[in-house]
Amino acid sequence: PSDDSLTGVHVVVTAGGTREPLDPVRFLGNRSSGKQGYAVAEVAARRGAKVTLISSSTLPAPAGVEVVPVETALELREQVLAIDADVVVMAAAVADFRPAAVSDTKIKKTHDPADPDAAPSVALVRNPDILAELVQRRGEATRPVLVGFAAETGDADGDVLTHARAKLERKGCDLLVANEVGDGLTFGQDESTVHLLRRGEAQVTTIGPAPKTVVATALWDAVIPLVKTL
Ligand code: C5P
Repeated sequence: PSDDSLTGVHVVVTAGGTREPLDPVRFLGNRSSGKQGYAVAEVAARRGAKVTLISSSTLPAPAGVEVVPVETALELREQVLAIDADVVVMAAAVADFRPAAVSDTKIKKTHDPADPDAAPSVALVRNPDILAELVQRRGEATRPVLVGFAAETGDADGDVLTHARAKLERKGCDLLVANEVGDGLTFGQDESTVHLLRRGEAQVTTIGPAPKTVVATALWDAVIPLVKTL
């Protein structure tokens, strides 16, 4: 195998925005299309990896990739934790919160007969942080290699890179792919600009604006040295 080969490596990629149901017809969602995760899965398969794509997106499956469809953060968590992978790339936009209760029947417009114009309130609860669980489960081991994504916006507390560096060290994954979001950037687009940060290394690689397959290629080029030492 060449230096960039992933033959014999089992890769799990998560992709898409999770959907958190309120009732049988409604959900809380987000703007993630799944395109970047699908590109990551596609490039890994092309390089010879066994690829499991755990997805809440309806994009067509890339060639040679096994797709496990999921809808919610809890379903995604269950599927990810069930696989003993060499590399996990968490490209999914996992909802941080879900409705505390899911109604078995459609919530009626007039949900309170005593006050026909009232709107219901939705109580939310926190979803588990799956990437944090993977880091914790790995402990002192180096396998699986863990890659996180971070959608960041610059703000008064700092720029995208400052936030991304802090998130990488806090989360404890090996690599963080930070993309700048907001203002029509990234979500649903075919191109993006990302920064690749490695834990414990000051050096940052910036890619783009480039097609998401180019971003995926750079991601695997950064992951492969870590896989070779497993
Ligand atoms: O902290 P933040 O949500 O920005 O972190 C994003 C990264 O964490 C992504 O890799 C995402 O897939 C992952 N994540 C997760 N579980 C959550 C929320 C985010 O694994 N509940």
